[in-house]
Amino acid sequence: MEKRWQLIFLVTFIAAIIAYILLQAIDKPLEMIDRAAGLFAYYFIFLAILSSEYMKQMKKVFGQGFIRVHHHLARLGISLMLLHPIAFAFEKQSISIFIPVFYPLMEFLELAGRPAFYLIIIAVAAGVYRKHFIRKWKKIHYLNYPAFLLIFIHSWLIGTDLNSGIMQLLWVCMALVIAAIFVHKHIINPRKSM
Ligand code: HEM
Ligand code: HEM
Repeated sequence: MEKRWQLIFLVTFIAAIIAYILLQAIDKPLEMIDRAAGLFAYYFIFLAILSSEYMKQMKKVFGQGFIRVHHHLARLGISLMLLHPIAFAFEKQSISIFIPVFYPLMEFLELAGRPAFYLIIIAVAAGVYRKHFIRKWKKIHYLNYPAFLLIFIHSWLIGTDLNSGIMQLLWVCMALVIAAIFVHKHIINPRKSM
C-alpha cells in the first residue's frame, strides 16, 4: 500500500515538473494545447511501456492486473497523442501535417512524429484486436518501441520545451529506460516475452 502512494507521488511529481516547464513559455491557446498534449502523450506512452516491465508486480501494488493499469495509461497516452497533431492542424489550418516526410533525412527526423503516429495506431490496434491474430499480435505491438524512439527524436529536435535542461534530462532518462526494457525483454531474456 505504501509503495502505491510512493509511486503515485513520483508519477505526479514528474507530471508537475513537465507542467511547470510548459508554463514557462506561454503561447497562443492552440499552441499550448499542442505542446501540452505532445509532452503528456510522451509521458503516458512511456508509463504504458514501463508498466509492461512490471506485469507481475502490478496486482500487488495497485490491486489491479497488468492489463487494467496498462489500459488506463494507454488510453490517456493515445488520447493525448491524437489531440497533439489535431491541435496543430487547426493551428496550421491544414491536414497536410499528417503526411509523413521521408526525405531529406533531417526533415524526416524532425517530423518523425508523423510516422510514429501511424506506428502507434497500428501497434495499439494489434493489442486491442489481439484475439483475431493470436500469434502475430505481439510482434506488431513491438512497433511501440521504434515509435517511441521516433517520438524522442522528433520532440528533441523541434520541441519548444525541449530547450529546457531539466526537460532534456527527463526525456533522455525516459528514452534510456525504454531502451533498457527492450534490451531486458528481448535481448537478455528473450524467451519469456515471446
Ligand atoms: C500507448 C499505447 C500502448 C503502448 C505504448 C504499449 C506498449 C507495450 C509494450 C512495450 C509491451 C511489452 C511488449 C514486450 O516487449 O514484450 C506491451 C505489452 C502488452 N500490451 Fe501494450 N501498449 C499499448 C497499448 C495496449 C493496448 C490498448 C492493449 C490491449 C487492448 C495492450 C495490450 C498489451 C498486452 C496484453 C501486453 C502483454 C504482452 C505479453 O504478454 O508479453 N497494449 N505493451
Ligand atoms: C502527425 C503527427 C505529428 C505532428 C504534425 C507533430 C507536430 C509537432 C510540432 C509542430 C511540434 C513542435 C511544437 C512546439 O514545441 O512548438 C511537436 C513537438 C512535439 N511532439 Fe509532435 N507531432 C506529431 C506526432 C507526435 C507524436 C505521435 C507524439 C507522441 C507523443 C509527439 C510528441 C511531441 C512532443 C513530446 C513534442 C515536444 C513538445 C514541446 O516541446 O513542447 N508528436 N510536434
